[in-house]
Amino acid sequence: MALLHRPISLPLLPLAAPASFISHPKHIHLRKVAVPKFRSAPPTVALLNLNPPPYDFDALEPHMSKQTLSFHWGKHHRAYVDNCNNQIKDTELEECTLEDIIKKTYNNGDPRPVFNNAAQAWNHEFFWECMKPGGGKEPKGEILELIKRDFGAYDEFLKEFKQASATQFGSGWAWLVLKDNKLVIEKTPNALNPLIWGHKPLLTIDVWEHAYYLDYQNRRPDYISTFMNELVSWDAVNARLDRAKASAT
Ligand SMILES: [Fe+2]
Repeated sequence: MALLHRPISLPLLPLAAPASFISHPKHIHLRKVAVPKFRSAPPTVALLNLNPPPYDFDALEPHMSKQTLSFHWGKHHRAYVDNCNNQIKDTELEECTLEDIIKKTYNNGDPRPVFNNAAQAWNHEFFWECMKPGGGKEPKGEILELIKRDFGAYDEFLKEFKQASATQFGSGWAWLVLKDNKLVIEKTPNALNPLIWGHKPLLTIDVWEHAYYLDYQNRRPDYISTFMNELVSWDAVNARLDRAKASAT
């Protein structure tokens, strides 16, 4: 999550407003950039910003429709960011990074009200960056070597990731994470993410129904297969792997 004046320890990829976002303002309304508050000291407080996906809203078609992406980002993601900002405003959490807000408000398994919105704001920006036009299929680079090391073969990883995504009961997420320098697949319900356990997320898929129902209705396995075959940005995963390893050292 890009934050004004609030660097996070696992930075997301650089984002640029997609062309359709700029050229069709009647369809997508840009949320005002949060303005740092000024107290007697220099600004140290900022609210979360709602960044758009790093591609046009129709760029993932026919695998993910413009309608799905527009609603998912423009309604769901926006609501998480707005609700989080309302909940942290004028509290001590304004001084924290988003990652710290998530860890603090998880509250050792007894989440405070802001946790769900904060985690979902982070999860969605991370998710947009997990995809790109013309993505998917077998990865290249170091992530492929680690997949072979830790799962035996890409096909075995694919089978396990699909299984985790398909069997997450109800709303939630499936993840590929770096845990103790090893690749591990995890799944989480609702807003939970692996940051709360100190794991380094590399890839995720949103399996809330709002992520796929307009395009795939109840066929979650079809959505998962399409995500893996056509949409995953392995470039983003490799970049995150580099940062995760660097932060570990
Ligand atoms: Fe979502």
